[in-house]
Amino acid sequence: MSKLDNPLIAELEAGVITRSPGEMQARAEALARILPPDCTLALHGDLGVGKTTFVKGLAQGFGIRESITSPTFTLFSIHKGPSRTLVHLDAYRLEDDRQAEALMLEDFLVSPWCLAVEWPERIPSWIPPDAIHVELSILPDEAHSLRIRRSDT
Ligand SMILES: Nc1ncnc2c1ncn2[C@@H]1O[C@H](COP(=O)(O)OP(=O)(O)OP(=O)(O)O)[C@@H](O)[C@H]1O
Ligand SMILES: [Mg+2]
Repeated sequence: MSKLDNPLIAELEAGVITRSPGEMQARAEALARILPPDCTLALHGDLGVGKTTFVKGLAQGFGIRESITSPTFTLFSIHKGPSRTLVHLDAYRLEDDRQAEALMLEDFLVSPWCLAVEWPERIPSWIPPDAIHVELSILPDEAHSLRIRRSDT
């Protein structure tokens, strides 16, 4: 049985609604606490859907105290916490997998790590088969929905 077969994962696989950034962060924080080491999260969804907000919650769950901002211009940032090194990559400005290659990201993935990728569809070869996909969207009533999907199951 996979470590990820637990009720919290099942709830997120069914999909949940968040009505504030705080609620989104709380969901991410709870997920962070049960993530296996060396895990990639692919954060899907349009502009302003809450991908960076989700990463803020992940950081809280990993006990990272420094603030998380959007790395759109720096492309990625590294946050060392007591339980995990969080590497936050925003692929929005990357044109292809080769540009991601040049970042030498793997040098920063010191175990136990978590790689959180915004705009993963820009760099498909960087998203491993066991990645956890997080699908975010904004509903007509302005609530933000969150659903996770695992491609290896
Ligand atoms: N339920 C919610 N969940 C997440 N964000 C919310 C929610 N309600 C409101 N917001 C707001 O929506 C915005 C989401 O912005 P955020 O930077 O997290 O999105 P993003 O997906 O990273 O955008 P980008 O594609 O530009 O990187 C924030 O201003 C946040 O406060
Ligand atoms: Mg963002």
